[in-house]
Amino acid sequence: MAAAREHFGSRLGFILAAAGSAVGIGNLVAFPVAATKSGGGAFLLVYALFVLFICLPVMMAELALGRKTDKDPVGAYRQLSGGSRLWSLPGWLALITPFMIAVFYLVVTVWVLGYLIETLTGNLDMLATEAYFGQFINSPVVFVYLVVLMLAINGILALGVKDGIERAAKTLMPTLFVMLIGLATFVLMQENAILGVKYYLVPDFSKLNAEVVKNAMSQAFFSLSLGMGIMITYGSYMKRKDSIPGSAKVVALTDTLVAFSAGLLILPSIFHFNPQIDPTELSDSSAGMIFLFLPKIFLALQENIGYLGASIFAAVFFFLVLVAALTSLVSIIEVPVATLRDERGMERKKAIYVIAAVQLVLAIACAVSFGMVDWFTNFIHLAGSDKSFFDLVELIFYNTILPLNGLLVCLFVIYKWKKSNLDLELQEGDAGFMGSLSQKYVNFSLGSFIPLILLLIFINTVAINFFGYSFI
Ligand code: PHE
Repeated sequence: MAAAREHFGSRLGFILAAAGSAVGIGNLVAFPVAATKSGGGAFLLVYALFVLFICLPVMMAELALGRKTDKDPVGAYRQLSGGSRLWSLPGWLALITPFMIAVFYLVVTVWVLGYLIETLTGNLDMLATEAYFGQFINSPVVFVYLVVLMLAINGILALGVKDGIERAAKTLMPTLFVMLIGLATFVLMQENAILGVKYYLVPDFSKLNAEVVKNAMSQAFFSLSLGMGIMITYGSYMKRKDSIPGSAKVVALTDTLVAFSAGLLILPSIFHFNPQIDPTELSDSSAGMIFLFLPKIFLALQENIGYLGASIFAAVFFFLVLVAALTSLVSIIEVPVATLRDERGMERKKAIYVIAAVQLVLAIACAVSFGMVDWFTNFIHLAGSDKSFFDLVELIFYNTILPLNGLLVCLFVIYKWKKSNLDLELQEGDAGFMGSLSQKYVNFSLGSFIPLILLLIFINTVAINFFGYSFI
């Protein structure tokens, strides 16, 4: 007989675990850079509107799917569609997507761990040199860190929902908030910090164009961990007496506040380092920022606070990113774990071993695709350029399938499961929901313009990445 379903112990526990999932590398690095390059306050406004009007309803729908069925994504779609073959597709996609996103996210997190260790051992000056990153990602020590990281994540998962995921979130998330506030306060007190704040906050509406708007939408969607089966799985661990709409709002707000605060840390640091900088020249990729650009900025702090001070600052920053990435990885790997348990009746520990073994192999394939193994480095030729195995995984699962999954959630919930059932589930634990403005909005938006927007993003991404053509 299947064991009783595990649940989060408290509403706060769920909120911290879901916020732990949502707060990741995307918030701490990608968001501030995107905001800076795309019109500061103008981008922030567009982003906030997307979170509120598009992402929140999708998050509620995912949580409702999970809680209604008490199942993993595959089981949730199967149960609510009455076993339809067609509708099993989104369930499988909501399993494979997190599985594969976890693989490339693991590799980036391994690099963060490596940078943290180098900083702690006094090597910040080395990290700040141009050639270091290329050498580091191609050194065998990367595999050691990969194993250490996987042991930590799977160790948390092995303890279960309440004693593992929830407890880790309850310790790590408050630590993350404190470190973030501490670092931002320190940076804001430095010379020229105000220039960075201005660049970050003063709106420049002339920078808004179709591409910026699309990027803001994709960023918000990714940042809230949507389209990855995570919220379906975490929804299945929620108690029926807790409000889904209320909790989703707190999670979205926390995620957005963390992203916003990260901007108050990154931008002033950059301007303190170089008041003349033109932020539009900053690297687009989070990896470029974290591993190439920021170490130089941290090292420059030694003029004010000495080498030790600069190293401590950098170490706290890398630790912050590591914690954010770790709690995201825990949530994303829990999706396949839940699926093996629910669908195959496997024990938690056994499911973890099976998944970790396959992920280790795939993560190694990603890690060696930066030059170590030529076959993985030049894995495929697509839309006019060579792509590595790492690039391909990121392209397919993170860039392309994510919006498709979101689209399928909306279509499924409204047209197959039906609005009235969604309403009933959202009403549980939230007596005031029925008849409220939120209810009307969620119903209307999920059945109309939200899937339309996600469809357009999906089509455009496929056109750009696979055919080298963009509509916007
Ligand atoms: N929200 C995460 C981020 O911003 C996205 C993510 C979630 C990535 C879970 C991996 C795993 O980085």
